[in-house]
Amino acid sequence: MRIDVFTLFPQWFEWFETQRHVRNTIGQGTELRYVSYRDHTPLSGGQVDDTPFGGGAGMVLRVDVVDAALSGHYGHDSSELRSRRRVIALAPGGRLLDEKLVAELAGESELTLLCGRYEGFDERIVEHLATEAVSVGRYVLSGGELAAMVVCDAVLRRLPGALGHEDSALEESFSAALEGAPEYPHYTRPAEYRGWRVPDVLLSGHHERVREWRREQSRMRAGGAPGTGTDSPLR
Ligand code: ADE
Repeated sequence: MRIDVFTLFPQWFEWFETQRHVRNTIGQGTELRYVSYRDHTPLSGGQVDDTPFGGGAGMVLRVDVVDAALSGHYGHDSSELRSRRRVIALAPGGRLLDEKLVAELAGESELTLLCGRYEGFDERIVEHLATEAVSVGRYVLSGGELAAMVVCDAVLRRLPGALGHEDSALEESFSAALEGAPEYPHYTRPAEYRGWRVPDVLLSGHHERVREWRREQSRMRAGGAPGTGTDSPLR
C-alpha cells in the first residue's frame, strides 16, 4: 500500500513513523510519502492560503495551490487523479471515520490524504480534486495533520505484519468476530489489587465460559443489541 499525505507540516509525521506498527508495515513494503504544499505553490513567498471571499475570520487553503501540488507530484492533471485513486480531504464535516471506512481504505492499494489548515479548504478542492471528505470526529482540529495520522494509524494496523501478532486485530472492538460491538474488558496481574478483583470466570481456566462471558460483556457494551451499539460509551 502507498499513502501520500499532502501537508504544510511534513515534519510532524517524523514522530508518527517512529511508531512500531508503522515501522512494521513500512518494513513490509508500505510506503508513506509526505508532500509539502509549499514546495509546489505557484504563489510568491511560499503562500498557500488566503482570506475567505465574503469575509470572515481565518485563512482558507487555496485551490490553485492544492492543484499545483497534486499535478506537480503525480505529473498529470490533478482532476483526473480521483478517477484512479481515493483522494481524501480531511475535514471536520466529512464522512465520519469508522471501522467500515477503515476496512474500505485498508483495501486500497493507493491513497492520497489532503490536510487542510486554518479555516480549511476552498470548497472547490473537495468538489473537484478530492473523491470525498473524511472527518475523525465532530470537533475542529487546527489542521488535518492529526486527522491524517488517525486515518493512517487505523488503516496501517490492519495490514499484515503491522501488529506483530496476527490475532491481535481479529477480536477487537467493532470487528466481525464481535458482531461489530465494542471489545470486552481485559484484565491482567495482579488478580486482586486494593480489593479490586478480576472477575472469577477469567481465573477459572474454563475456556468456553470465558468466551461466553466475553461475548456477553461485549454485547452489554453495545447496549444489548449486537452490531448497533457503537454509539454507547465505553466509559
Ligand atoms: N481538520 C480539522 N478538524 C478535523 C476533523 N475533526 N477531522 C478531519 N479533519 C479535520
